[in-house]
Amino acid sequence: MAKTMINVALPKGRLGEKVLAIFESAGYTCPSIHEQNRRLIFENEETGIRYFWVKPSDVAIYVERGAADVGVCGKDILLEYSPEVYELLDMGMGKCRMAVAAKKDFRDNTARSLIVATKFPNIARDYYLKKGREIDIIKLNGSIEIAPILGLSDVIVDIVETGKTLLENDLCPYEDIVNISARFIANKASYKFKYEAVTELVNKIASYVENKE
Ligand code: PRP
Repeated sequence: MAKTMINVALPKGRLGEKVLAIFESAGYTCPSIHEQNRRLIFENEETGIRYFWVKPSDVAIYVERGAADVGVCGKDILLEYSPEVYELLDMGMGKCRMAVAAKKDFRDNTARSLIVATKFPNIARDYYLKKGREIDIIKLNGSIEIAPILGLSDVIVDIVETGKTLLENDLCPYEDIVNISARFIANKASYKFKYEAVTELVNKIASYVENKE
């Protein structure tokens, strides 16, 4: 009988390369993915794996809709979009944090709404709702650090990894919101109908990740 194929959405970029290395070390090798070309889908029938590269923020969409059985994406994406997927494993990599940052001389003027620029409006809204602070959100798609410098916002809510981007743009981390890391996620129907193959995969990845820590 042919091996059950597992479709894996990998986040394009630095994190994705590390994730692929872990999957391959765990036995899910795929020689064709290392060829120099612009293809986005690669498979290996022998190991029962089909990989495809997608934008990191799109991984959860592919998995939620079943175009991928499993995938790896940041907890930030799961918190922001709350996709209907199973979160099966903390990969212990891609570690960073979601934080509020502002100019060094920032003082919160509580007499008016705080203007917050971010790529993560839901995370920002939840955070300030819990604090009871009224805000106006400006949704941006990148280069968020520029917003307070140009007076577009009072603060930003963004990912901080090394802190270098903040430092080099004269901003300071002001409050931490939540720690982030990469998570292994699965489509709910795939988890049911490809249960053995998906659990075998996640168990192998888990023991590899645990042994590395
Ligand atoms: C994130 C984030 C910061 C930067 C933080 O951007 O938005 O700009 O990384 O990293 P650091 O603390 O190590 O400097 P990312 O590289 O994901 O690019 P994007 O804004 O285009 O999504």
